[in-house]
Amino acid sequence: SLFEEAARLIRQSKKTMVLTGAGISTESGIPDFRSPGTGLWENLDPMEVLSTRVLYNSPEEFYKVGFKILSSMRNAEPNEAHYILSEMEKEGIISGVITQNIDNLHQKAGSKNVFEVHGNTREGSCLRCGKKVSFEILEEKVNKKQIPPCCDDCNGVLRPDVVLFGDPMPYAFDLALKEVKSSDLLIVIGSSLTVSPVNFLPDMVRHLIIINATETPYDYKADVVIREKASYALGNIW
Ligand code: OAD
Ligand code: ZN
Repeated sequence: SLFEEAARLIRQSKKTMVLTGAGISTESGIPDFRSPGTGLWENLDPMEVLSTRVLYNSPEEFYKVGFKILSSMRNAEPNEAHYILSEMEKEGIISGVITQNIDNLHQKAGSKNVFEVHGNTREGSCLRCGKKVSFEILEEKVNKKQIPPCCDDCNGVLRPDVVLFGDPMPYAFDLALKEVKSSDLLIVIGSSLTVSPVNFLPDMVRHLIIINATETPYDYKADVVIREKASYALGNIW
């Protein structure tokens, strides 16, 4: 079966990395971006919601729409797929997880070697002086109707430290790139593989497994493509 074939590739690989996207968290109740019908970008334009352009030019607008999306992810709990990956890392089966997600669910499930290439929803910073603040501070200020929330030191606008469209990639992406280049297998789980530069990663390894509910542009390159839900597929592989 495809599950056995995937398990065989994993056993044979000396170093395996995993790349996850929003699809691994839909079973935790967080909508993804591009699933037909339910994806966030069905009704919203990412450039109008989670971009540096909106943040810089209409910070109020950014906080009314984009920030709400980010904030809503913070109460979710990991699902079976996150737990299996954390277990696989403990057993030394995978070296780590590169994630485009900002929901913190890999860490909540116990994964240690996590590369957050699109930032996180634990921290924020000041656009003017660079001061670091916790995400809770942003939420508190927003709840007190301070929109946009501003820095206590310099009154500059505060931002969440997630990667918005228009932002450069964080250092974690360079590290992730190195990890993938030194791996012989990459397992992609729950990503449409439509966003650059993360979708260059599948081109950088010898072996590729894709676990995704729908087609991706990299399916033709994969040794194994499993079109199932992440938790079901991982449960059958490991
Ligand atoms: P997408 O929404 O583009 O893709 C998620 C994929 O997961 C889709 O192809 C779904 O078919 C699949 N999927 C959904 N539920 C699944 C499940 N239970 N099991 C398996 N597959 C499932 O999300 P990403 O690829 O993560 O960036 O999107 C990449 C980036 O685009 C995000 O990090 C975000 C977004 O705009 C920024 O905001 C910078
Ligand atoms: Zn400041």
